[in-house]
Amino acid sequence: MRRVGILTGGGDCPGLNAVLRAVGKTLLRQGVELIGFEDGFLGVLEKRWRPLGNAELSGIVHLGGTILGTSNRDNPFHWQPAGAPAGSEFQDRRNDVADIARELGLEALIVIGGDGSLSIAERLHREGVIPTVGIPKTIDNDLNATDVTFGFDTAVAVATDAVDRLHSTAMSHHRAMVLEVMGRYAGWIALYAGVAGGGDIILIPEIPYNMDAVNETILRRSKLGKRFSIVVVAEGAKNAEGKLVVERMVEGSHDPIRLGGIASRLARDIETATGVESRATILGHLQRGGSPTNRDRLLATQFGHLAARLVLDREWGKMAAIQGGRFVGASLAEAVGELKLVTPDNPLVAAARAIGTVFGDEQGS
Ligand code: F6P
Repeated sequence: MRRVGILTGGGDCPGLNAVLRAVGKTLLRQGVELIGFEDGFLGVLEKRWRPLGNAELSGIVHLGGTILGTSNRDNPFHWQPAGAPAGSEFQDRRNDVADIARELGLEALIVIGGDGSLSIAERLHREGVIPTVGIPKTIDNDLNATDVTFGFDTAVAVATDAVDRLHSTAMSHHRAMVLEVMGRYAGWIALYAGVAGGGDIILIPEIPYNMDAVNETILRRSKLGKRFSIVVVAEGAKNAEGKLVVERMVEGSHDPIRLGGIASRLARDIETATGVESRATILGHLQRGGSPTNRDRLLATQFGHLAARLVLDREWGKMAAIQGGRFVGASLAEAVGELKLVTPDNPLVAAARAIGTVFGDEQGS
């Protein structure tokens, strides 16, 4: 009987369980056994796994998080035990992965992850450690080779709801409200939620902002009798000097930088420069917890089914993807390495500018 493994790596993301369910149910019906590794690549290295049969995969399509657990600091090519003293050497454990796969009789490994985990999957395949298939997961929507990743729609829905709620309190108190959303180095969540929620100013990493443009917009709105303003800022937004606001470093992670805190700085600067009372809200992990939207459940189900088909057809080194509305097996190598960012000609940016939304790069009046 054919047997494959699966894991969920990196930050959790709404729709992970829906993917596991779709992969498992498709494979089981074709007579392929699926086993799930716990806590991402750590579970592979520690041989912690369990069979994913019908009982385990039942009733989970709507559940947030991942029934397998995840980890974002366990790269088999560059591994260090948790709690290792600072300065300890990293180990290359690729041979352990190959041995464990052989011992368990695994034909391949399915990796559900973002840029970090899928880069590992691509390398495992390229270097002949184990055949892999990827599934694009991230609320940030920053993976190449696919139009969209699952989890993004849920994050946008949560962020849009937050913008709506901030609107009513901003209007009541005549304040400027600054909402900080996730997205790492990409502005997709801020752009989509900012436009959907009718934000007045949207600041994203791809469009460096200057504070004068932000402050002038708020003062201009006051003069027009609009006694509130909503600013939606991506955690990775940069001013013209290109400085990021870093909250902490997470050593051993694919990217150790954890962004956060830009909203508080902006709110303080806006209040000082304009005299308009301002408040900051950091939405944080609320954006990726909880149930997936119906759209993410559907996308996750289709990605899961497609990944299972790639396994059945032995199309290794591929990632389930959607391109121009069509589901395709894209090359994992094309998906990783470089992030998919918002481009200046993005139609949503153009539409938002046309209706008066400010992105902070406007010249002063
Ligand atoms: O990549 C997903 C994401 O939620 C980013 O938007 C955010 O910058 C980061 O992960 C937060 O990471 P952590 O799980 O370490 O808090």
